[in-house]
Amino acid sequence: MAIEVENLKVEFELSEGKIEAVKGVSFKVNKGEILAIVGESGSGKSVSCMAIMGLLPEYAKISGSIKIDNVNIDREIIKKVRGKKITMVFQEPSAVLNPLLTVGEQIVETILAHNNISRKEAVDIAIKSMEEAKIPQATRRFYQYPHELSGGLKQRVVIAIAIANKPDYILADEPTTALDVTTSAQILKLLTNLKESYKIGIALITHDLGVVAQVADRVIVMYKGQILEEGDVYSIFDNPKSDYTKRLLSSRLNIKSISA
Ligand SMILES: Nc1ncnc2c1ncn2[C@@H]1O[C@H](COP(=O)(O)OP(=O)(O)O)[C@@H](O)[C@H]1O
Ligand SMILES: [Mg+2]
Repeated sequence: MAIEVENLKVEFELSEGKIEAVKGVSFKVNKGEILAIVGESGSGKSVSCMAIMGLLPEYAKISGSIKIDNVNIDREIIKKVRGKKITMVFQEPSAVLNPLLTVGEQIVETILAHNNISRKEAVDIAIKSMEEAKIPQATRRFYQYPHELSGGLKQRVVIAIAIANKPDYILADEPTTALDVTTSAQILKLLTNLKESYKIGIALITHDLGVVAQVADRVIVMYKGQILEEGDVYSIFDNPKSDYTKRLLSSRLNIKSISA
């Protein structure tokens, strides 16, 4: 079981001209593994994931094939599985959470959107999801508003939303970039636990090679819309093939400043 992306291309037709954001990438996210997607800013990491999720704007021209567990995904099919079979976690929890609703209510909404169950059952599942996301005192936090929570707790709420419907896959787009080092390590540990306990397949976009070394099973390195290199985490670190990857590694944690 896997997400299989083949020869994915994404172009944006703008009045100023055409942007080829993704130029024919192929990769797989297997259930029960963490695939790290690394590469400098603008290399097409987010656009690739947004294409899988069917969240790109209408004017994006998408070609290639995306399959989830052998089912071809198009804009209609993804609407049915998004938020259930496949979910996404973004860098900024505040951009995802509604400031006017309690966090519990937001998890309940996600659950009720995809399951024909009572509100009471949804509340129970929501609190369980908060516990799974390692939110202390989940029942009390359920009734709090996003602004009452720290950045780390808000990201845990986003993860609780992401796991509430027991997804097979999570696409996490720089989920720890906005967090301090300690909180970031806790969130990564949580993602690793979810992978192991529920065999969730996780695509983890990051520009932090320290994160990759800590949690990834496999890595793809993107550069200017293409995949330069792909391998298990050991071979990428021990024996990088492309000069770009070598330079990434020698620069250690600061991918943003490197160009090929
Ligand atoms: N909605 C959009 N409209 C036009 N161009 C976009 C859009 N989203 C992303 N791009 C462009 O696509 C390229 C890849 O972006 P992105 O995937 O966000 O990079 P990153 O690897 O940093 O996640 C960039 O040149 C970006 O400016
Ligand atoms: Mg991005």
